Amino acid sequence: MNQSYENAPVDEQSAHEVEEAGLRLALVDTSDAEAFDKWLRADQRGFHSGAPSKEVLAEGRATLADRRTTAVYDDLLPSREPVGTVNSWVAPLTVPGGDRVGAWAISSVTVAPTHRRRGIARALLGGELRTAHALGVPLAILTVSESVIYGRWGFGPATFVSDWSVDTKRVRWAGGPTTGRLSFTEPDEYRETGRAVLDAVMAARPGEIGLSPYLSDRLIGPVAGTENPERYRLVRYDSPSGEPEGFVSFAVKGSDDFVRHTVEVNHLTAATDEALTALWRFLLELDLVAEVRAGVLGVDEPLPALVSDIRGAAVTGIRDHLWVRILDVPAALTARGYERDGELVLDVVDDLGLAGGRFRLSVTDGVATVSETADAPDVTLPVASLGSVYLGHDFARALGVAGRIEGDVTALDRLFRTAVPPRLSTWF
Ligand SMILES: CC(C)(COP(=O)(O)OP(=O)(O)OC[C@H]1O[C@@H](n2cnc3c(N)ncnc32)[C@H](O)[C@@H]1OP(=O)(O)O)[C@@H](O)C(=O)NCCC(=O)NCCS
Repeated sequence: MNQSYENAPVDEQSAHEVEEAGLRLALVDTSDAEAFDKWLRADQRGFHSGAPSKEVLAEGRATLADRRTTAVYDDLLPSREPVGTVNSWVAPLTVPGGDRVGAWAISSVTVAPTHRRRGIARALLGGELRTAHALGVPLAILTVSESVIYGRWGFGPATFVSDWSVDTKRVRWAGGPTTGRLSFTEPDEYRETGRAVLDAVMAARPGEIGLSPYLSDRLIGPVAGTENPERYRLVRYDSPSGEPEGFVSFAVKGSDDFVRHTVEVNHLTAATDEALTALWRFLLELDLVAEVRAGVLGVDEPLPALVSDIRGAAVTGIRDHLWVRILDVPAALTARGYERDGELVLDVVDDLGLAGGRFRLSVTDGVATVSETADAPDVTLPVASLGSVYLGHDFARALGVAGRIEGDVTALDRLFRTAVPPRLSTWF
């Protein structure tokens, strides 16, 4: 990368497209409080959140200022509030093999309902991808409000999450002895430690991203704008030798029956199996509680094995979560590790003309080399399908059945899939 993402100018093609629609594309100076507040307001409105309080705006200015922040303006509007928003930054994404790759993270994609379906999102997304590509960033990532939006820009769902409801009056702990020390703490007291624990957890698991202090703080406890912040509790886990290895933040909700409270887990993180089991046991054995709800967990969460009655821990949903858009096939494929060796010619089709081509992927001792080739392909796939298999999730066979990977799907699956599925345990 020869230019930093914060200073990258607006994409010329996008600026032109927006101008054709009678609008204006511009980077927002996030040190200009008035301009940034207008952008933050538009962003909140776009997701149907209430009008932000002074505290929420102040928090936004303090925590989101380092993102590359773009707006679309309708200069005829007296409010001067943007009608389109997006922000982006380069986030460290853990890939199979354990390395971290700089990924173009995109967030806050909104278009005012008064200006929808005029191509504003298309201009914004195209601009993000072309800018990231020009800067040499090998892939872009996002989490999505609706799963039908981003496929058209070459994103594919690459990690999945599970949501759970545990009937704690029905199950007993079956996860064996637990060790270490649990204690209640406060977000302000625990913040630095919590951020470090999160960083260790995120670095160790493919699919997770390195979190900014703000993204970490949302997991540690309530932030400005969180409803009923006084209900939140934070419990830390320290190993027998005193190492901080995990925490759970949660809220307890009452019911008419005092022995049937519900626990809603905000975030549970654990760097070790000992931390994981101790924290789950703590939650499942809480007195006066009948249900524990937790979401955005991996698809391999070991809960069924931790309870005496497997049906007492029910999956209430499995969803796509992190979406990946490959921007540079050789750079992306050589950045990750592989669990099996092999060779494959991939014909990657990219309608946006950024990453397509035919490539020979050769993996020896888990390390890839990639070269362009004119040889006949073993598999042909749109760039979105390559994004879907990139982090190792078991998705190639389904995409093959659906016709979105053609050719030797088994060979592709064998090379790309990992024993442990990738996971992203937060939103961004
Ligand atoms: C999603 C959103 C940003 C789209 O903005 P927009 O300016 O109306 O989108 P565009 O006019 O550029 O549409 C581009 C294409 O995407 C399609 N599209 C856009 N939003 C879509 C949606 N929600 N569902 C299905 N298709 C959608 C359009 O039909 C168009 O399709 P085409 O390429 O076949 O012509 C806007 O509806 C919005 O702000 N939604 C609420 C906030 C949100 O969910 N943001 C996404 C966060 S991850």
